[in-house]
Amino acid sequence: MTSDPDSSRQVVVRLDDVHKEYGHVKALDGVRLDIRAGEAVAVMGPSGCGKSTLLNMVAGLDRPTSGTVQVHGQDLGALNETGLALFRRRHIGMIFQFFNLIDDLPALDNVALAAQLTGTSARQARRRALELLDELGIADRKDAYPAALSGGERQRVAVARSLMNRPALLLADEPTGALDSRSGEQVMDLLIDLNQIGQTLLIVTHDPHLASRCASRLIEVADGRVSSESQLEPTA
Ligand SMILES: Nc1ncnc2c1ncn2[C@@H]1O[C@H](COP(=O)(O)OP(=O)(O)OP(=O)(O)O)[C@@H](O)[C@H]1O
Ligand SMILES: [Mg+2]
Repeated sequence: MTSDPDSSRQVVVRLDDVHKEYGHVKALDGVRLDIRAGEAVAVMGPSGCGKSTLLNMVAGLDRPTSGTVQVHGQDLGALNETGLALFRRRHIGMIFQFFNLIDDLPALDNVALAAQLTGTSARQARRRALELLDELGIADRKDAYPAALSGGERQRVAVARSLMNRPALLLADEPTGALDSRSGEQVMDLLIDLNQIGQTLLIVTHDPHLASRCASRLIEVADGRVSSESQLEPTA
């Protein structure tokens, strides 16, 4: 077995010597990382080691102090704030530990909004949102507001929202961190299914079970650096 079995696949994420400093804190200290199309990469490491900072750099939610971040062939440093927001909406899906749904909108509109923000008509957006909620098994909850949904349902709505624009890359920061084990397993199953149909994933987690179930490669971060990388055996 070679150490890089997918080297012919398109590079979706490329970090080159990325540093991020917050005052005196070196959150990232020279990170290099390539993620290829179809990979599912888990990032693990102790609290405060820089995992969320790394994810935020890839999402274009924050900019490196130095170094470059490319996603889907685009150098994020070359985009202004508006360009970055548009790029993120079109090409990157995000799932967070605490769902980040809009409380005042029912599930369907929370999902549909993601496409309306990229110029899709409300009608088309709602149609696709309903399809996704259906695929994720929560179409019957489409009119419910987030407060009335269980944690697992909220996360499935958030996953549907993240998929609305068929993103090249799906990012997840502790996607099961706020869920009970059963809901967490459902979200893991969802991530596995998505990866099996080709979705590229980058998942930050504290949970070795999530990493080993969902990821094909494990990256360990310590003190803002990649301390080790390993391929994971697929689980059945
Ligand atoms: N906006 C910010 N301003 C100042 N310091 C920050 C900011 N964001 C992160 N940091 C610091 O950068 C370091 C890395 O933080 P980060 O959130 O990336 O860690 P993490 O690995 O995600 O931790 P956790 O597992 O607890 O979520 C920490 O020392 C943190 O305090
Ligand atoms: Mg974090």
